[in-house]
Amino acid sequence: MTNKAEREEYNVSFFENLKLFSWVFKRVKPYWKMLTISIILMMFVSFMNLIPPYLTKNAINMYLYPTHYSITRTYSQGSVRSGSNYFISSRNGKYTLIHKGNKAFIKGKGHEYPVNMADIKRMEISGVIMIAIEIFIIYLIIFFVSYAQMWTSQMVAIKTVNDVRNVLFDHILKQPMKFFDSNISGRLVTRVTNDTQNLNDMFSKIIASIFKDTFLIVGILYILFFMEPHLFLIILPVFLAVVIITYLFRFFSRKVYRTVRAKLAAVNAFLAEHISGMMITFLFNKEIEKSHEFYKVNNDYYHSALKMVFVYAIFRPMISFMRYFAVTLLIWFGSRAVMGGNVEIGTLFAFITYIGMIFQPINDIAQNFSNLQSTMVSVERIRGLLNIPLPKRPERSADISSGEIVIKDLWFSYNKDEWALKGISLKIKDGEKIAIVGHTGAGKSTISSILTGLYDYSSGSVKVGKVEVKECATAELRSKINIVLQEVMLFSGTVLENITLWDNKISRDMVLKAIHDLDLEKFVASLPNGVDTHVRESGTNLSTGQRQLISIVRAFVRNPKVVIMDEATSSVDVETESMIQHAFQKLTRDKTTVIIAHRLSTIRNVDRIVVINEGKIVEEGNHEELMKKNGIYAKLYRLQSFEEYQVS
Ligand SMILES: Nc1ncnc2c1ncn2[C@@H]1O[C@H](COP(=O)(O)OP(=O)(O)OP(=O)(O)O)[C@@H](O)[C@H]1O
Ligand SMILES: [Mg+2]
Repeated sequence: MTNKAEREEYNVSFFENLKLFSWVFKRVKPYWKMLTISIILMMFVSFMNLIPPYLTKNAINMYLYPTHYSITRTYSQGSVRSGSNYFISSRNGKYTLIHKGNKAFIKGKGHEYPVNMADIKRMEISGVIMIAIEIFIIYLIIFFVSYAQMWTSQMVAIKTVNDVRNVLFDHILKQPMKFFDSNISGRLVTRVTNDTQNLNDMFSKIIASIFKDTFLIVGILYILFFMEPHLFLIILPVFLAVVIITYLFRFFSRKVYRTVRAKLAAVNAFLAEHISGMMITFLFNKEIEKSHEFYKVNNDYYHSALKMVFVYAIFRPMISFMRYFAVTLLIWFGSRAVMGGNVEIGTLFAFITYIGMIFQPINDIAQNFSNLQSTMVSVERIRGLLNIPLPKRPERSADISSGEIVIKDLWFSYNKDEWALKGISLKIKDGEKIAIVGHTGAGKSTISSILTGLYDYSSGSVKVGKVEVKECATAELRSKINIVLQEVMLFSGTVLENITLWDNKISRDMVLKAIHDLDLEKFVASLPNGVDTHVRESGTNLSTGQRQLISIVRAFVRNPKVVIMDEATSSVDVETESMIQHAFQKLTRDKTTVIIAHRLSTIRNVDRIVVINEGKIVEEGNHEELMKKNGIYAKLYRLQSFEEYQVS
């Protein structure tokens, strides 16, 4: 993975940001209809939210403090009768209500019309009730539409993220082994889980809310301006101050957020590494040192988190203060205007309500913009991972027809310039059994990794059954070569599933027959549930020997042409060892066999022994010849016989 994709910090240009967005929108394209619906619904909800304060204003201005009436000749709902005239509360009406003693009149244009006070009250109450019902219906609609909106945006999020996760894992599956050497698994896990989760938040919350909040802010400002431009101008400076504060907050929060993230990543990395290596910590009495080390890493995180708390803690109260300041300004200037008859009281009420409504979206939008920033870090990392080119391997290739192996002048390095194999040439006939021995780190396992196509070699040629390994489709190669690894990896599932590796072509009967043919029935019977014994994650509930035996069955059912055995360095008990040896003999009958041996006593009956030292073949021959030569092999052999002698 590139460093760029790995960085914890986010500091990309506007143009790069656009590229990231276009990447995101490509992922969401299959669900664009749903996303559009979601955004439209969200705007609709915002719009609906703007109405109730306006209606309340009308309720106050028209019915609670009805200062103006219009006159009509016909009856309409909620009107009050006086003789042949009807009066109705109206904002621009030219008539007003006056009281004389305990009688009420509506006065205007030089006339006074007597009205019944009870009628006036009835009209006012019915008007207020109508508005209350309207507000109730609006909130009911908001409830249902919000539900639909949430549902659609969550669906878009879940579907998109599900796709991205699948694509990511498929991409990881296609990587060469080299990729896994330089990418620690914890980091890849984070990519597939946390980073995609951030993407989820982006679709389920951030995008929709940025649309909603912008709409709400613009909507409120628009209403305020047209409702009462004077009051609007009074609180305008407060808004500007809020915008500046929000901008500053974004600037500082982004800065501290970045450090917090980096420090948290350090804590995660430390934990992942040390929990998996806990055994070593125990065995070497390193608990206290490790505890101190962790304390330090954790403390770093704590301090940067404190800084973040400071920035966040000051922002919200500040915005809150600005909000009450705006309300104070409104009460101060607004009430004078009301008293002077320039502004209606309902309008002042609506102003104060809208002011209360506008600060939350300002707060949220600032929050969501910084969330968007951190999501973009995740997007960049996911994209970085997906942009790693895949190795070019043919989908189909010639069939491997025999177990013959021909290696010519093979050079290979894991890291540039450090050659692990230096010009290996080796010919193994079909059906021949050879052993590779050598000191630790000599390059033995490397040869098996090259034969199985796990790593690509830089120069030279490696042919299995006349097909060049580099040009062989991996499916073909790995169906013909099978390997019993030094460290057998088992997955959680049953023993049977670990043998078939979930391959439908391998039936239970085939596995049972294989166990029978390898004389391993006794071993399988000794497991609590036979082949249905549950294997824990990584096979931790089985011993090394048991795992090796399972791995031999695994190879046997696939009937490969070439078998490679990378012998475990850890020894097993004598009985299991003889069971392994016996099963292995049966597995390799008539097959080309490469045994990477650590215990030299186990390879006496191979056709040939190849000794490797520092990436080169240094000796070759059978046991007697090599003993006579008195070289590395003879030395290794004598050392081991001495050890065995000591043990027995
Ligand atoms: N994944 C890897 N990345 C980088 N270097 C590696 C990797 N695997 C092995 N090496 C290096 O390549 C060299 C050969 O390693 P190899 O695993 O082939 O040794 P080996 O002969 O199998 O040793 P052992 O007997 O301990 O299993 C060593 O120097 C080792 O450090
Ligand atoms: Mg090895």
